[in-house]
Amino acid sequence: MQNKTNIIIGIVAFLLLVTVPFWSAIFTGEAQNGPELSYDTPVINAMVDPHCVEDVDYMRANHMNILNDWKVEVVREGTRVYVASDGTEYLASLQNTCFECHSNYEDFCLECHNYSNVTPTCWECHVEPSVTVAGGAN
Ligand code: HEC
Ligand code: HEC
Ligand code: HEC
Repeated sequence: MQNKTNIIIGIVAFLLLVTVPFWSAIFTGEAQNGPELSYDTPVINAMVDPHCVEDVDYMRANHMNILNDWKVEVVREGTRVYVASDGTEYLASLQNTCFECHSNYEDFCLECHNYSNVTPTCWECHVEPSVTVAGGAN
């Protein structure tokens, strides 16, 4: 008898434990917060210290301005090198820099743009990144 009770207590405790993320999300409303951005790409996975060209808060707010600056500079001045604030040099290219790391366009850029109701009109001229490349298994 004692054994059975212990088993039942064990099972209940286990169930409570494994469902913590579920009911804590209900209490905090966290499950509803923001788009689900994926960083599961071959290049980002291979980075020892995954980071963007600038820090993440800056990128969230200013990535469209960076892209616009890159575009203006490349088209007007032919400059193709961007020196980030940490000194790293990047090729100023949507295709070869942003999409090199964020090769999961659909699960990253598009996920957030759909969530925010933004539709950049870049793809009339630039090649629209196609469906997730290897490694982006959601
Ligand atoms: C060297 C790889 C790399 C390159 C190049 C890169 N990113 Fe990132 N990006 C990342 C990583 C990794 C993060 C997450 C960083 C973190 O969480 O600290 C990130 C974060 C971001 C974010 C913030 C997402 C959020 O959580 O709100 C945006 C927006 C973004 N990148 C857009 C871009 C754009 C646009 C470009 C090209 C101008 C670019 N990235 C180039 C790796 C890269
Ligand atoms: C964290 C959410 C988020 C992520 C991730 C993100 N974007 Fe954005 N993006 C936005 C928002 C919000 C706007 C609109 C901002 C505004 O209008 O002020 C925007 C605007 C843009 C614009 C300007 C659109 C226009 O017509 O003016 C471009 C270009 C752009 N994003 C490219 C990208 C690319 C490329 C990536 C992936 C590498 C990316 N974004 C990832 C949220 C995001
Ligand atoms: C009317 C056509 C057109 C549209 C629309 C357009 N671009 Fe471009 N873009 C160009 C051309 C042409 C170049 C120059 C190509 C080169 O020299 O490699 C360029 C260059 C760029 C560059 C620098 C070079 C590179 O390889 O990435 C960036 C970054 C860029 N555009 C971003 C954008 C973004 C972001 C949008 C959407 C908000 C956009 N462009 C919309 C035509 C366009």
